[in-house]
Amino acid sequence: MKKKTKYNVAIVGVTGAVGQEMVKILEERKFPVAKLRLLASSRSKGKEVKFESQKIKIEELTFQKSAFEGVDIVLSSAGSSVSKQFAPQAVQAGAVVIDNTSAFRMDPEVPLVIPEINAGDIAKHKGMIANPNCSAIIMLMAIAPLYKKRKIRRVICATYQSASGAGAKAMRELETQTKDFLEGKPVQKEAFPYQIAFNLFSHNSPVSDNGYNEEELKVIQESMKILHDDKIKIGITCIRVPVFRAHSQAIVVEFDQKPSPEEARKILSEAPGVCVVDDPKKNYFPMPIEASGKDGVLVGRIRKDLSHENALALFVAGDQLRKGAALNAIQIAEVLVKS
Ligand SMILES: NC(=O)c1ccc[n+]([C@@H]2O[C@H](COP(=O)([O-])OP(=O)(O)OC[C@H]3O[C@@H](n4cnc5c(N)ncnc54)[C@H](OP(=O)(O)O)[C@@H]3O)[C@@H](O)[C@H]2O)c1
Repeated sequence: MKKKTKYNVAIVGVTGAVGQEMVKILEERKFPVAKLRLLASSRSKGKEVKFESQKIKIEELTFQKSAFEGVDIVLSSAGSSVSKQFAPQAVQAGAVVIDNTSAFRMDPEVPLVIPEINAGDIAKHKGMIANPNCSAIIMLMAIAPLYKKRKIRRVICATYQSASGAGAKAMRELETQTKDFLEGKPVQKEAFPYQIAFNLFSHNSPVSDNGYNEEELKVIQESMKILHDDKIKIGITCIRVPVFRAHSQAIVVEFDQKPSPEEARKILSEAPGVCVVDDPKKNYFPMPIEASGKDGVLVGRIRKDLSHENALALFVAGDQLRKGAALNAIQIAEVLVKS
């Protein structure tokens, strides 16, 4: 990408849970924006969004190459079917697309990047860079610093994924169901297949023949791609929980030799983008409510796994709308404009 002092940026899916966060983070981090274009479906055409001192009107996304002429960077977050339709056109028009959906993540021509882990892959892009799955980002932020120092053989992870991971509508559904349930009214289900208020259920993505759902398979495959390691063994169970925002994870990491919790705590406390929250005396550990709105992924309960001498157990919470999506995408854009 041509070096400039300021860049024309477009956000596709700006009214969504991730898109709204992208607008905030561009402003917070003072990304060098020349012109910001905001796009969504025809439903949102003409609505206004505040960015810095301006009010910007949302445009309807169209799938022609001409729609992206003059745009340097597209931050895309409108679902994978939308990305498949417009992103190749935007690349042809000369933009670099940072795509937050699953559409291109496993394409060998498309780098899949968490800047703290594999920023070097950004340079290989051919107009498209993929932002990983939110649970993959949060898990890898906790284990990659350990992986860089000690060989990891196997990871077992159980997730506690918030409602907003399924979008703005799902977040509203948790709120409405909670109110209705407490008022004794029947609970309406639209965004989720089951009641989310006062309940939890296996992740709402299709289950494949091997018994793993799409979300779990994404975490396994994307982690291997990001770490450049197709030998690492990952077992995962993804669960949706009645939390508004921030995903949590219980993780067991098996190394090729005995690990030390003290050394792991030191490595993690020095890792960029990680905050160690680990106070057993106060029983104070990562919580989604404290991870919400924060950039850092909280890691704690760092302890020996009692079932395996080479394993450590951790508990993690990270804001999946920020580090798991919008922030990670903007960090990729920051590397792009600095390189
Ligand atoms: N939520 C998360 O935590 C998270 C994390 C990582 C990745 N992601 C991925 O990011 C993407 C967006 O997720 P989200 O949670 O932000 O979803 P969301 O809240 O449901 O928002 C979807 C956005 O896409 C727009 N959109 C839908 N159909 C469109 C179309 N035909 N043309 C143009 N725009 C269209 C919507 O615009 P209207 O308002 O006009 O309908 C809205 O802005 C998904 O691929 C998701 O898997 C989400």
